[in-house]
Amino acid sequence: MLHSSILLSGDGQTILRDCGETFYPPDIGKVFDMLQDYFGREFRYLRLSVTDVCNFSCNYCLPEGYQGDSGRSGGGFLRLSEIRNIAAAFAQAGTRKIRITGGEPSVRSDLPDIIAAVKQTPGIEKVVITTNGYKLPQRIEHWVNAGLDGLNLSIDSLDPSVFQAITGHHRLQELLDGLDRAAELGMSAIKVNVVMMRGYNGQQIDQFLNWVKYKPLTLRFIELMQTGDNEDFYQRNHISGELIKERLLREGWEQALRSKDAGPAQEFYHADYQGRIGLIMPYSKDFCASCNRLRISATGKLHLCLFSDKGIELRHLLQRGDQKDELIAYLQAQLNDKKVSHYLRDGYTGGTRHLAMLGG
Ligand code: GTP
Ligand code: 5AD
Ligand code: SF4
Repeated sequence: MLHSSILLSGDGQTILRDCGETFYPPDIGKVFDMLQDYFGREFRYLRLSVTDVCNFSCNYCLPEGYQGDSGRSGGGFLRLSEIRNIAAAFAQAGTRKIRITGGEPSVRSDLPDIIAAVKQTPGIEKVVITTNGYKLPQRIEHWVNAGLDGLNLSIDSLDPSVFQAITGHHRLQELLDGLDRAAELGMSAIKVNVVMMRGYNGQQIDQFLNWVKYKPLTLRFIELMQTGDNEDFYQRNHISGELIKERLLREGWEQALRSKDAGPAQEFYHADYQGRIGLIMPYSKDFCASCNRLRISATGKLHLCLFSDKGIELRHLLQRGDQKDELIAYLQAQLNDKKVSHYLRDGYTGGTRHLAMLGG
């Protein structure tokens, strides 16, 4: 059933909003067999940060490199036993996919054990990772053996000197070798993330499009997002994804139909290209309507949105395997506070200083 505008009411506000589909707000307090919010959005996908440490210094994220110590001040990063308990509770509450994020998740030496623990959780169908690709050629096989189902890799430029200017590292070739190794190992769910920035890779779209002509992977152009720390950088470098979308449609790319459980990326395909293109446009209208994900920080806090003010402490519910039901009830109660959207267009970035804090 389609409505062009609907009335949404939550967190004390009433919002009249254009929307392509209708939400059916559930009754507050009702118990569901899956996590869902006041607006009827279902959450079968968890983004689990296992560290906020990163060994790169991407100019849009950590231009001075990792400065924090939240692992130490926040009681340490999640332990394997806590990660197991999170995965088990979320699986029982309907989660089917867990994305392991950082900072950079591979700075944890027990990453293969984490992947294996999540993958072995009954109910979890997919365990995937987002990584900067550091030492990927040596590491990918361990991850695949542990049960990894998919890889999202950041490659913000295919030009080695621009890659270095963005990330602070001269490691482009290592990432490309890692991608080849992942393909050799039979991994098919590979996505390459490109954060678009006017002053860096804004003129390199042709290079990326030529690259995916013969590469069967999904290349995602991501709109630069403003965070607490990068306002000037954002103002100077943000490019609207709409410009890329118009170009793709002009050049014969077709927009793929969205699957029911698709996330916020819009996908495009073209008969002459082996690869697909994804566009992540967080500033576009209705971006949050398809939100299907929750986040847990590396110190065990639930974040209802990437740009929420602060996380909700879960650690006291992660210590024993028999606290699952209590944890699920707590999660469901918190979800009633999930807002309909972020307020990025108004420059409101919540408590998010940079995305390494939470893994994007
Ligand atoms: P899949 O849908 O599982 O492939 O994941 P993904 O594309 O969300 O994962 P990835 O970690 O590769 O993130 C790619 C970009 O999308 C990053 O810049 C994220 O910060 C951004 N992103 C992912 N989810 C959200 C979201 O809910 N809101 C916003 N604003 N950005 C998001
Ligand atoms: N805007 C858009 N994407 C970002 N990422 C990190 N910071 C930002 C930002 N400010 C991306 C990284 C990585 C993913 C986890 O988030 O490039 O692909
Ligand atoms: Fe590290 Fe990722 Fe941030 Fe780059 S975007 S500095 S790789 S956390």
